[in-house]
Amino acid sequence: MFSPTGLLTLLVIAAVAWRLGTARKSSTLAPLPPGPPADPIIGHVRIIPSSRPELSFQKWAKEYGYDVIYLNLMGQPAVILNSAEAAVDLMDKRGAIYSDRPDFHLFEESGWRDVLTFANGGTPSVANRKILRKALSNRSFRSLICGGHFLRNSQAHLILSVAHGIKITDNNDPFLVLAEKIAWYFAHGGSPGSTLVDILPFIRRLPWWVRIFPSLNFARDNYPIIRQFQEAPFAAAKCPIGSGVSEISFVRNMLEDMQLGTSEESGITEDDIKGAAGTMYAAGADTTLSTLVVWVLCMVLNPEVQKKLAKKSIASLGGTTYQIEGNCPSQIGWCTRQLVVQLGFPHKSNKDDVYKNMFIPKGSLVIANAHAITHDPSVYAEPDQFNPDPYIPTSEGEAGEPLPVGYFGFGRRVCPGQYLGTASVWISIASMLATFRISKELDKNGNEIIPTPGMTTGLESYGS
Ligand code: HEM
Repeated sequence: MFSPTGLLTLLVIAAVAWRLGTARKSSTLAPLPPGPPADPIIGHVRIIPSSRPELSFQKWAKEYGYDVIYLNLMGQPAVILNSAEAAVDLMDKRGAIYSDRPDFHLFEESGWRDVLTFANGGTPSVANRKILRKALSNRSFRSLICGGHFLRNSQAHLILSVAHGIKITDNNDPFLVLAEKIAWYFAHGGSPGSTLVDILPFIRRLPWWVRIFPSLNFARDNYPIIRQFQEAPFAAAKCPIGSGVSEISFVRNMLEDMQLGTSEESGITEDDIKGAAGTMYAAGADTTLSTLVVWVLCMVLNPEVQKKLAKKSIASLGGTTYQIEGNCPSQIGWCTRQLVVQLGFPHKSNKDDVYKNMFIPKGSLVIANAHAITHDPSVYAEPDQFNPDPYIPTSEGEAGEPLPVGYFGFGRRVCPGQYLGTASVWISIASMLATFRISKELDKNGNEIIPTPGMTTGLESYGS
């Protein structure tokens, strides 16, 4: 019988031998992009920190003098793009090569099914994408939210209302409790596509009682919650009218179109609709929520900035009705520097490629380092300062620095929920600025407690 360590060592050697056996060699003379020295067999796995890896990637890019760096994750090539230029050049301009996704074994093992964000082509994801792009386009999403069928102060409420027509009535609502568990799950699962289960997918064949791999345990422990989360809201959305579920929702509209045969897309099934609605929640609720959590943290830490913004926000709110505009008002653009997505969601290349005389092998994980892009010192004079003024145009006497790009991703996989996300974050921020003063907690002597900010490492980063 093997000890857990012996078993782990054997598995690692087997995985790397298999990967090296199937690895393709460069068909060109171009070298791989630079990167730090790697260990034998495991490559860079040991030196990539499990917490805030984006900071190390940015540091290595600086050290090696290239915005693109190469890492070997136990034989799996990974290419990190540390500038907006490289991300646009590859993911936007060469979208035909860089739009696949890797297999997300941790998410699959956790029980996620038919979520577009995690999907790598194939029929369900094509239907899912068509439905979502249409429903979330800048014009369409308004018909789902402008009727007032949502509670504005919570992102979980908003998405459950838009997608499934579910109305949350109190803080103990079972859907809200479930949504909180999902938020925790996404914030603590590690970098998507790079956990041990993703790197050594065959450990998924181990029986449930083998509990030596934390990421496998994490996936399996969360399985019942994820399954419940994917099934229960859809079942509720199908309840008869009068049962408390709104008549207007994405699911209701799509089911009606499907039954009446009026759907613009042919061959859409109930499973496609369930998958698309689940994707909306999986991709939309926690991203907007974590953006707001990070924003509140920034307000606590920067009271002077808060005062300035509050003045502008009250002015722009005008009367009692909110104006939902597609463009993110510039004064919140800078908040995105404290990005909720610190490392972009991984893409995977489907062809060998050469970029700036560097070889990028087919099958590489390709990740835009959102942190490095938004803190690029060649673009921003003081990237680590939390100060909105440099974004004000030069015509108004300030530096006119560009608003950060890339927080909704790149290329063909760019976020289809960006209009809804921007509108809901803006409404919440403007409302909070107009009605609250966010301040530090006081200790028992009345002194301010200065929080030490930290960020979680997961699909989304939360301030902690
Ligand atoms: C502040 C809010 C949001 C942020 C920062 C955000 C960010 C992102 C990012 C970084 C990606 C990956 C893009 C890539 O791979 O290049 C993504 C994908 C996606 N987002 Fe969002 N998102 C937000 C809100 C939403 C909302 C509200 C929805 C829908 C209700 C949504 C639906 C999606 C979907 C379906 C995808 C997958 C697209 C694909 O793989 O083809 N997002 N989002």
